[in-house]
Amino acid sequence: MQSFDEGITLDQFLMESGRAHSERTGQFVTLLKQVTLAAKMVSARVNRAGLAGMIGATGDTNIQGEFVMKLDVYANETIKKALEHAGVCCLVVSEEEEELIHVPERFPRGSYVFCMDPLDGSSNIDVNATIGTIFGVFRRKSPEGGRGDLGDVLRAGHELIAAGYVVYGSGTLLVLASKATGVNGFTLDPGIGEFFLSHPDIKLEPSARMYSLNEAYKAQWDDRLVDYVESLKAPGKGFSQRYIGSLVADFHRNLLKGGLFIYPATAKAPNGKLRVLYEAFPLAYIAELAGGAATDGRDRILDLEPTELHQRTPLVIGNSELVREATEALSG
Ligand code: AHG
Ligand code: MN
Ligand code: MN
Repeated sequence: MQSFDEGITLDQFLMESGRAHSERTGQFVTLLKQVTLAAKMVSARVNRAGLAGMIGATGDTNIQGEFVMKLDVYANETIKKALEHAGVCCLVVSEEEEELIHVPERFPRGSYVFCMDPLDGSSNIDVNATIGTIFGVFRRKSPEGGRGDLGDVLRAGHELIAAGYVVYGSGTLLVLASKATGVNGFTLDPGIGEFFLSHPDIKLEPSARMYSLNEAYKAQWDDRLVDYVESLKAPGKGFSQRYIGSLVADFHRNLLKGGLFIYPATAKAPNGKLRVLYEAFPLAYIAELAGGAATDGRDRILDLEPTELHQRTPLVIGNSELVREATEALSG
């Protein structure tokens, strides 16, 4: 594979990974190419959100008289449209839609199932903080060509065949992960509208001194979590704390610099806040391929089998050592 300074594009990388996936139909590569197209479109809108009047408002028209929709609605529609006609998937699960999204009859149904959080970190949209898109890909279980059903999505996370996310921050970065290719990051060059391999073969730093959780809820935590987090603050431990409030941004920082992210169960939210299918599963899949780990405070996230589409779970994710420590503290 060419080195970065010759600028290997995401397209070239996907072509080569298509072979790595011993891809027969080309559907897998086409799916990821369509996700890339949608990511570019959402990125362009995120960068113009303030001008296009897409800050949180909904149902109004903006200065150009365009119908204004919330950025998460826009991201949801854009990604669905990019996928539904391409003959690559039969079903989509989206945080923005209560029910399973079946590919319309008029389009060919493909072999994959796409689970997504189209816009993660919505509370950060109107303060210009980093937001993102998170997704996971399963191969369908139901017969090829059919509509697909809940059995295609209510399944263990370790059946994922790929996962990724897009971070719309100071730049737009797409991270893709699969067993065949590992975890790789691609940065968008907005000048030419192409993603270039910028973070080859990402691995979590072995030693990390960063933790990330919303301490405002401390009064609602399990006492063992209170004690564990206090232990991280002990003099000489050398930890620092960061919390952006967008899961994808907090995760991405920890992936590159090492760290531990916790969104725990609280008294008000005994199953935590984050969703299994399109937040915890994809990031757990990526974390493990990067040498890290993810649990729900007791069990491995990828061994969970959700019984509902929008099921929530507590999440402890990041460096294996820190995840093991935190999980032992929480379940010990
Ligand atoms: P979403 O915007 O997709 O609903 O996700 C928001 C999530 C996640 O991004 C973040 O980690 C968490 O909400 C922050 O929650 P708190 O504000 O309760 O800390
Ligand atoms: Mn989210
Ligand atoms: Mn969301």
